[in-house]
Amino acid sequence: MQKMIAVLEGDGIGPEIVKEGVKVLNAIENKFGHKFNLEYCPFGASAYFSDGSCFPEKTKSVCDEADAIIKGPVGLAVTEMNKIPQAERPEIAGILPLRERYDTFANYRPVYLDKSYAEISTLKEELVSEGIDIMMIRELVGGIYFGKKVEGESTGMEYSTDECTYKRKDVERIAHVAFREAQGRNKIITNVHKSNVLATSRFWNAIVEEIAKNYSDVQYNSILVDNVAFQLVKNPRQFNGVMLLENMQGDIITDQAGGLLGTLGLMPSACVGPDKGYVEPAHGSAPDIAGKNIANPYSMIGSVAFMLEKFFDLKEEASLIWDALKKVLKDGYRSSDIADKNTPKEKILSTADFGNKIAEYIK
Ligand code: NAI
Ligand code: MG
Repeated sequence: MQKMIAVLEGDGIGPEIVKEGVKVLNAIENKFGHKFNLEYCPFGASAYFSDGSCFPEKTKSVCDEADAIIKGPVGLAVTEMNKIPQAERPEIAGILPLRERYDTFANYRPVYLDKSYAEISTLKEELVSEGIDIMMIRELVGGIYFGKKVEGESTGMEYSTDECTYKRKDVERIAHVAFREAQGRNKIITNVHKSNVLATSRFWNAIVEEIAKNYSDVQYNSILVDNVAFQLVKNPRQFNGVMLLENMQGDIITDQAGGLLGTLGLMPSACVGPDKGYVEPAHGSAPDIAGKNIANPYSMIGSVAFMLEKFFDLKEEASLIWDALKKVLKDGYRSSDIADKNTPKEKILSTADFGNKIAEYIK
């Protein structure tokens, strides 16, 4: 197979972890005889400083041509970010336009911990000893993040607005994605919402429940988002299966999921649109650890596996990567974010060595 991939390294730990993702991609190329042509393009805060825009025109045209996009996290520490005008910052002028451009409405965020290494979790052993296997599916191009905004500065600091809208078609398509995903898993879906307060949540639920009727083989549960925040750390196992979340609630709850795993470094993701999409770790650019070769590249390497699976239909290649990720952890290796006092020093891997191990297992 021959494919063209746009690579957006991003900021902070972005370049370090993207490098490991590409290392693993090269290992797959060599093993299976594929040819992936990579085109590196500026994106994020670094692109703002080098090219005057977080999502430069030349990057847009490479992404338009590409078969898929690998994206590292973007953003800088607050003091650095303040050097960029609000409207030009990476989220507003980079990530949201990227999502909108390719209509990447379906965000897959697996929350996975094998029982053989469940001790990585921050939770008590008895809560996670059977492992965790949740696929969080977040709607990614609707809701409050994409609604009309009124900045406080424009009203003399008298008021500010973020509008939240969901259209029928937005809810229908993400619900179908989630139910189909549930059919391929344990056939349990949990719909997350805030219907006791939000009109958009009541609308969302009504449509999701209509769609549920087409999937009688899937057990449908529904729960308020604040209770999810509580239950996720009290008894995460009850959510094994698929969780369906709207955009902002999904943003927050998936980060909490990283917390219960023990690190955001174990959170890969795929952002899928009708024609194409991109993959990125679910976390940010971690400026606090950038440039130290200690970031956990699992999230980026898993995202590369997602790219092969979701965009190129290379299932065998993808599962080889997922298996290698599990094997490295089963074998007791840890990146520094998940190492603890019991981890022998020689088992603690740098970012680059973690990538080397995965590539070695793939060979
Ligand atoms: P963050 O997700 O970058 O970091 C939160 C914590 O998790 C930090 O302690 C960090 O060191 C740790 N962490 C994250 N990824 C890790 C990894 N792979 N290995 C080990 N530790 C890891 O969140 P934060 O600090 O709030 O945001 C930093 C920047 O990232 C901000 O500018 C923010 O706007 C941006 N951001 C970008 C996203 C994207 O590109 N999609 C998503 C979320 C935030
Ligand atoms: Mg987030």
